[in-house]
Amino acid sequence: MKTVGIIGINGMVGQNMLAELKKINTPFEIKTFGRNDEITPLDIAVLCTDNPVSAQIAPQIKDRVKFTVDMSSEFRMTPGVPLVIPEINAHAITPNTPLIASPNCTTTGLVMSLAPLAPHYHFTEVFFCSYQAISGGGKKLLDDFHTPGSYYENNCVPLIGSVQPNGHTSEELKGLYETRKIMEMPHLKVYCHTVRVAVENSHSLGVTLKAKENFDLEQVKKLWNAFPNLVYSEKVITPKEASGLETTFICRLRRDVEEPNIIHYFVTFDNLLKGAAMNGRQIVELLLEKFV
Ligand SMILES: NC(=O)c1ccc[n+]([C@@H]2O[C@H](COP(=O)([O-])OP(=O)(O)OC[C@H]3O[C@@H](n4cnc5c(N)ncnc54)[C@H](OP(=O)(O)O)[C@@H]3O)[C@@H](O)[C@H]2O)c1
Repeated sequence: MKTVGIIGINGMVGQNMLAELKKINTPFEIKTFGRNDEITPLDIAVLCTDNPVSAQIAPQIKDRVKFTVDMSSEFRMTPGVPLVIPEINAHAITPNTPLIASPNCTTTGLVMSLAPLAPHYHFTEVFFCSYQAISGGGKKLLDDFHTPGSYYENNCVPLIGSVQPNGHTSEELKGLYETRKIMEMPHLKVYCHTVRVAVENSHSLGVTLKAKENFDLEQVKKLWNAFPNLVYSEKVITPKEASGLETTFICRLRRDVEEPNIIHYFVTFDNLLKGAAMNGRQIVELLLEKFV
């Protein structure tokens, strides 16, 4: 029997990963590992752990597992490690990529909206401002949020991750570099501003996208609706409606007031599902189908 192990089973992503893996129809055994458990040989290990833990565990287990799927940002920009959203770049996974990274949750929402349009429009610039849910910061942040007097209560905090020497946060730099890697557009200009808001679950982004061509709004909506797990809605969709669902929702598409080659829109999606566990499950499914 094939085996898939979840390492970090007690965390937000680990718990969601367990529920997601149970949805897979092919027969395989799920094994779960907490902080002090020894990791047994596996066909696929899914690391639902923070960067330092993934950095330590991935090399330790590499001779015991065929493939490792890492949910942290530790290896995302490492050359030779594919950064995969199965709807977009499943081709990046091969028998020779034993380590696969799942992208940043906010970046995932952005690239889900960009990928269907990319074959039809030459993007020159993209700007987004994020409205990121508390659950994106893991269970400690969620516990803090539920403690009376939390800084995050009734607030929005424009600092996620750590401030880098150039003044951008680590989260903002993920938005830039991960987008370029997934889209295979190394020169795409991505401007971002990431903000934690007092929403328990589901991230949102306000996006402005500029292309060389003028946008045809009806074509854009059709392209989005034809893409798997993506829906354009004429009705406003908020994080409340997106929570618990596997769909990435886009709404409020409009052309720029002055520039027909610029569009503005709003994206919302469940950061624990498409932004993490669902994407991880889709990678596992692909590995089970093709390579394990
Ligand atoms: N939350 C999101 O929306 C999201 C989205 C995309 C990616 N990610 C990434 O996914 C990873 C997990 O995030 P999270 O939100 O689930 O964080 P979390 O809630 O803090 O969970 C992390 C888990 O790792 C466990 N752990 C620590 N050391 C371990 C070890 N040596 N062996 C096994 N387990 C160990 C912790 O165990 P204890 O319970 O004992 O402390 C905890 O349960 C992070 O890298 C995060 O950046 C998160």
